[in-house]
Amino acid sequence: MQIKSFEEYQKTYQYSVDYPEQFWEGIANNFQWRKKWNKVLSWNFSEPNIKWFEGAKLNITENCLDRHLAENGDKPAIIWEPNDPQKESITLSYKILHEQVCRFGNVLKKNGVKKGDRVCIYMPMVPELAVAVLACARIGAVHSVVFGGFSAKSIADRINDAECKVVITADGAFRGNKQIQLKEVIDDALIGCPTVERVIVLTHTRMAVSMLKGRDVWWEDEIKLVDTNCPAEEMDAEDLLFILYTSGSTGKPKGVVHTIGGYMVYAGYTFSNVFNYQPDEVFFCTADIGWITGHSYIVYGPLSQGATTLMFEGIPTFPDASRMWQVVEKHKVNILYTAPTAIRSLMSFGEEPLKGIDLSSLRVLGSVGEPINEEAWHWFDENIGKSKCPIVDTWWQTETGGIMISPIAYVTPTKPSFATLPLPGIQPMLVDEQGKEIEGNGVNGNLCIKFPWPGMLRTTYGDHERCKLTYFSTYKDLYFTGDGCLRDEDGYYRITGRVDDVINVSGHRIGTAEVENAINMHAGVVESAVVGYPHDVKGQGIYAFVINPNVHNDEDLTRKDILQTVTRVIGAIAKPDKILFVSGLPKTRSGKIMRRILRKIAEGETSQIGDTSTLLDPAVVTEIIEKAGQLK
Ligand code: PRX
Repeated sequence: MQIKSFEEYQKTYQYSVDYPEQFWEGIANNFQWRKKWNKVLSWNFSEPNIKWFEGAKLNITENCLDRHLAENGDKPAIIWEPNDPQKESITLSYKILHEQVCRFGNVLKKNGVKKGDRVCIYMPMVPELAVAVLACARIGAVHSVVFGGFSAKSIADRINDAECKVVITADGAFRGNKQIQLKEVIDDALIGCPTVERVIVLTHTRMAVSMLKGRDVWWEDEIKLVDTNCPAEEMDAEDLLFILYTSGSTGKPKGVVHTIGGYMVYAGYTFSNVFNYQPDEVFFCTADIGWITGHSYIVYGPLSQGATTLMFEGIPTFPDASRMWQVVEKHKVNILYTAPTAIRSLMSFGEEPLKGIDLSSLRVLGSVGEPINEEAWHWFDENIGKSKCPIVDTWWQTETGGIMISPIAYVTPTKPSFATLPLPGIQPMLVDEQGKEIEGNGVNGNLCIKFPWPGMLRTTYGDHERCKLTYFSTYKDLYFTGDGCLRDEDGYYRITGRVDDVINVSGHRIGTAEVENAINMHAGVVESAVVGYPHDVKGQGIYAFVINPNVHNDEDLTRKDILQTVTRVIGAIAKPDKILFVSGLPKTRSGKIMRRILRKIAEGETSQIGDTSTLLDPAVVTEIIEKAGQLK
């Protein structure tokens, strides 16, 4: 499956556009199917209705586990590096991982989980998280992993939306020098979740937890009661594999649905190619499995290719800023896949943390989640890659299932801050506001994709209309990404950021409407408007303009109260970096908030505010500018 030269890439790309079905069929033949497909693809983007490998039967865990056992059973599948460097790391061979997945699959069955049931997973970055995910896939259950940083309310919303029957969690998580309650958050969430019948709790931090009789059971007890014989459920290629919630421009996160066959092929193909993975290499993706990057490039992509994937429980700056580099040295990592925000944060500590650390095992570097600025790109290249490791700046989304536009390591010539060229099978298109194609090079536009690929979302859970409206209605017969994009003179793509009301904070995708809803829940707040602004480390920061007539003398305390409210409603990741109290918001006569103006103020570009004559009350802008200037 691996492309070896740029010439081969160009040929393969052309073939994939001319003969997409033959191309993907050829790739799919590298996987293990119980029964092959009757039809490679049927699709339309108007409903939308997308089916890949119709009629095929498989189980993704046979591809990720069983098929490697004969030759690579003893090869490390997962290496786990704990939060605390003093603790031992753990290596699970393919054989052991297979055994654990089978055993836990039986635990799920024993606890009433059946094919098609939804299971919510809220766990720390421990090997059991990967086991839980794969065990769901083994028995045909649909997993919905919720990132450990979300609040009880966010979890409850997600559990209810998917009508989950079982929750898998742990007592707590370690994060740097903090211990985080997970079970307690689940207990709070479940007060409002009538569909949940069982909670399986892993012991990790050994913190005190309440265990409800008849509902809660311990992971450690349950696995003793079952054996390791768990035949993989035969699944249809288009059966659901997982739901993953992500933010959009409206207040409520959407459950992006991925199906088994196409997702597997796409995650496996892109993993093998983009990173140029070689047998026996160690692949380290620093994401959390709670995000799509972790799903595709910690679990399914690497394991489907028989790779060794490293899972890191901690954070790059604990116990100090050399930790990530120490992990690379300790486990002789060959491929490091991380986010610009982590690079910028580590860059701020200078070169000192790198002293004496041997990074010579590194062969490929990767970046994901947000635009990487040139300074961070060069620092990564020179100090980490020692100017000899290609950097793959991979653009993709929760909805795309896998990497879409990216260099292929050792194949595509790179260019700082460019995601470069589409992978084979991906047909990007730039359009103007009216949806007219912008052809040629040296142009800017909204990024759309005009032809299906196997890893694409199929629907948004429980609300197909929403999927249609969000992605397939802005421009007729196109998938709209929500991103703006430049195609330079060489035909290289550079993603310039979201063009909708979504912001990207430390690589986490957050809807401004979601944050506004959370702020507005705070007593006293009349209205708020949230925008993103450039932030040195996080990429974008969250700037909230809040009308709260009750703020008198103690603005700081009210700010803290609001932050607390946002933490309760969404989670700490959505806390505004700046809160400005204002007496009014710039609105048009029809009542629409002019975010363009607020964005300029948040960016500090007050001289470029432009025309305010259409505003209901232009004076409000003067007031906001003045107050913003005083905000620290
Ligand atoms: O704006 C793009 C940005 O992240 C968004 C997708 O976020 P999410 O679904 O959370 O998935 C993140 C990990 C795949 C995109 O719409 N984005 C992602 N990768 C890049 C990027 N922006 C610029 N360059 C990238 N390499």
